[in-house]
Amino acid sequence: MKPQDLVFYQIYPRSFCDANGDGEGDVAGIISKIPYLKDLGVNAVWISPCFRSPGVDSGYDISDYRDIDPRTGDLSSFCRMIDAFHAVGIKVILDFVANHTSTEHPWFLEAKSSKDNPYRDYYIWRKTPPNDWQSAFGGSAWEYDAATEEYYLHSYAVEQADLNWENPKVREEMCAVVDFWLDLGVDGFRCDVLDQISKDFAGQNGNGPRLHEFIRELFGREKTKDIFTVGECWSADGENVRQLCGADRGELTTVFTFGHLCLDGGKFTTDRASLKEACRRLAEWQTLCETLGVINTAFFENHDLPRAVSRFGDDGQYRYESATLLGAIVLLSRGVPFLYQGQELGLTNSHYTDVSMFRDVEILNYYETNKDTLSPDELFARICAGGRDNARRPMPWDEISQDNFWIPDGTRRAEINARADLSAQRSVYRTFQRLIDLRKAEPALREGGFVCREITDDRFVFSRVTAEEEITLVCSLGKSTPIPSCEGELLFSNYEKVGEDLLPYQFVIFKKRS
Ligand code: GLC
Repeated sequence: MKPQDLVFYQIYPRSFCDANGDGEGDVAGIISKIPYLKDLGVNAVWISPCFRSPGVDSGYDISDYRDIDPRTGDLSSFCRMIDAFHAVGIKVILDFVANHTSTEHPWFLEAKSSKDNPYRDYYIWRKTPPNDWQSAFGGSAWEYDAATEEYYLHSYAVEQADLNWENPKVREEMCAVVDFWLDLGVDGFRCDVLDQISKDFAGQNGNGPRLHEFIRELFGREKTKDIFTVGECWSADGENVRQLCGADRGELTTVFTFGHLCLDGGKFTTDRASLKEACRRLAEWQTLCETLGVINTAFFENHDLPRAVSRFGDDGQYRYESATLLGAIVLLSRGVPFLYQGQELGLTNSHYTDVSMFRDVEILNYYETNKDTLSPDELFARICAGGRDNARRPMPWDEISQDNFWIPDGTRRAEINARADLSAQRSVYRTFQRLIDLRKAEPALREGGFVCREITDDRFVFSRVTAEEEITLVCSLGKSTPIPSCEGELLFSNYEKVGEDLLPYQFVIFKKRS
């Protein structure tokens, strides 16, 4: 199967489905929802980490790469889950967290026990910090270890120590981790902050000089030649994306880049870039990747991002319309589309004004740093606009809350949940289902070139074009606006009627022979 034939759905296991009622999503819960995913039409899932972990960064702090966290399941139930996905034609990729381990990982426990321990060099230690790198979650990225009188690097939480990829043993260990999961049947990996594994201590933390070599050592092997890999590469620009994407050269199938989602001037801000700006950037990136001949990804959501309908749409009056419009942009784009759990229900951000309702280490650090200088209104407005917990609230299968869940419900569970959506006249899920069907039915949506026709304050219009046909998506960016003249057969819209004007957040899809 070609990468662009895949439609991915990201599962964040802790919040997806809790089958045993212990307050944490689990493998049995995921298995129970395979029919729901199959019906939606996706044919690949990315499963966020559920390896053994102290849970400081919700599983991205791994203490055993080869075991499943007991709160989520165990290895044998996990393998049953992989088989169950495969049985219905859904591929499974896992998160591969290569840049750092938990400080509870046995390698780090050994490494910090003494300077001459054989595992010392698995991590990055310095007598004095060689630079002023900041941790992504706030504060210095260098943490002093009083026992051995040196600093170790942690690009993320203090409890996530960066691995030293210059050490060949680390690279061997990580290849072995990849192979372990391939032997258990997974189809590939989403590689967490992959562009940080090679460091240039004199520069920025990312895109170091040996990045491509390290990637090829991981994925340029006989065993990995047919797998799907997507690297989370915040620093990828036009030049290095060309190098990064090239599975035939032992690098990656594709990358996640964030240009269209980083236009806000900060993570925790209420001053958000417009949908038009995001679309402009997305279109530029689509065009660039096509020119470079690389496969890109298309997405608006993941477990680190606020809910797209709240960020770019109207999560009040036009929630159905704007959620489906954002879905259409992703599902009709060039490359590999990724949906995030709950996006297919039009889940929104949640508004809480009490710190006890938040769990994310990044939010809690931000709160601590800013609580004495920002007013509570401003502080919580920023956290609710940008915080990662928006995406991590329990998947609302129905309106009934589960009191013991590790993170409180989203604020609108009673109104927005799978049961309600699936029986609604205007169901976000059903519209996503139709869009996915359309992508499967129309070669132009998978193989076609990307042509941006128009971006104005009111409209975004693009086509996917092959020698035979042309499919055009016309989007209202929020207001009523005339439909530009588009010839062809009307395939689909998120409004019942298509008149002369697009209505707010209406999309219309046309098809014509080229
Ligand atoms: C990635 C993950 C994020 C995590 C960070 C550190 O950005 O998506 O959730 O906190 O890496 O592992």
